[in-house]
Amino acid sequence: MLRSKIAGIGMYLPETVVKNDDLAHVMETNDAWIQERTGIQERRYARKHEETTTTLAAKAAVIAIERAGITKEQVDFIIFATLSPDYYFPGCGVLLQRELGITKTEIGALDIRNQCSGFLYALSIADQFVKTGMYKNILVVGAEMHSMGLDFTTRGRNVTVIFGDGAGAVIVQPTSSKTRGIITTKLHSDGTYAEKLAYINPGSHGGYHAKKMNDATDFGFPDPDTYGGVFLTQHMMDNAQTYPNMEGQFVFKLAVQKFPEVIKEALAEAKLTPADIDMLIPHQANLRIAQFVQKTLRLRDDQVWNNIQRYGNTTAASVPIALCEAWEAGKIKEGDLVCLAAFGSGFTWGSALLRW
Ligand code: UT7
Repeated sequence: MLRSKIAGIGMYLPETVVKNDDLAHVMETNDAWIQERTGIQERRYARKHEETTTTLAAKAAVIAIERAGITKEQVDFIIFATLSPDYYFPGCGVLLQRELGITKTEIGALDIRNQCSGFLYALSIADQFVKTGMYKNILVVGAEMHSMGLDFTTRGRNVTVIFGDGAGAVIVQPTSSKTRGIITTKLHSDGTYAEKLAYINPGSHGGYHAKKMNDATDFGFPDPDTYGGVFLTQHMMDNAQTYPNMEGQFVFKLAVQKFPEVIKEALAEAKLTPADIDMLIPHQANLRIAQFVQKTLRLRDDQVWNNIQRYGNTTAASVPIALCEAWEAGKIKEGDLVCLAAFGSGFTWGSALLRW
């Protein structure tokens, strides 16, 4: 069977730098709290009305395509992971195709809604498509424009201070090498706690899940008999129920358990150990989580790449951005064992092991 490899990688971070102190001007928060709990010093925000999740993705994609040594017309499939799409539907995949100007080839475009682990899921799907010989140049993107969808009042501070905008992209191609390329990917989910980190509204749930779980939380449906027009109710708008919510400590506890678990699962399959990892790229959810994972796996500082300090949590974009940055900094060289891992909303989590 064929193997797949990352043939080109690119990233794009919007220019506007938003420091913790800037957020302290609009909500009750402070630099010390944010740095102590998350490690974040600043994040980037895209330019409203001029940039979108898709345009950020396009900038990263153009670089990945060029570095893969192909033309955009040679891209034969698009996989786009995001939780902050331009539209509710259609997804960003087709918008990216249009933005890149490659509609003539009429290639397929797939959207992934797996939040923080979205890029891992997307990469794994690309790996399967390439291994079966179906596609030869898959553009895999993780991109987010969180800044358009956050609650910038004190009410939303536990979520808002964490997230940032950005995009990362790779081209996945077949390789004839027996040793290099993607060795394995591992994907998992557990929907038991779907609402612990979620952006509930607008949606078709109509209060169903809360009722089934005897959850008294008001999810924005005051009138169960309302017929139609309930994706987005006035009640939701009036009660700020159209923002992401997170039970941070609950998520944290599971994250520090699942990250090492899924990394070890991939390593075990390849008959390798954490000591064999040359570079671990953890999803940038929280510097404290990454440090915990590093300690659990007994990795040195030079075996782990973190950049949440500068970009915040860019969800589906965080892994490809960090991978790209580490590679550009010369910290990933040919033959290195690279491990990618992510955990987040769903809950969904995953890992990928690559020989660069
Ligand atoms: O990428 C997707 C996966 N996400 C994660 O993995 C996130 C995991 N969780 C976390 O990273 C952390 O739980 C957070 C950084 C989100 C929060 O840190 P925490 O230490 O768990 O804080 P907390 O939510 O327990 O809140 C502690 C206190 C509360 O005040 P009281 O009740 O103790 O008076 C909050 O109201 O901190 C308060 N607080 C803030 N204070 C200043 C919450 N957010 C802020 C803020 N600035 N931005």
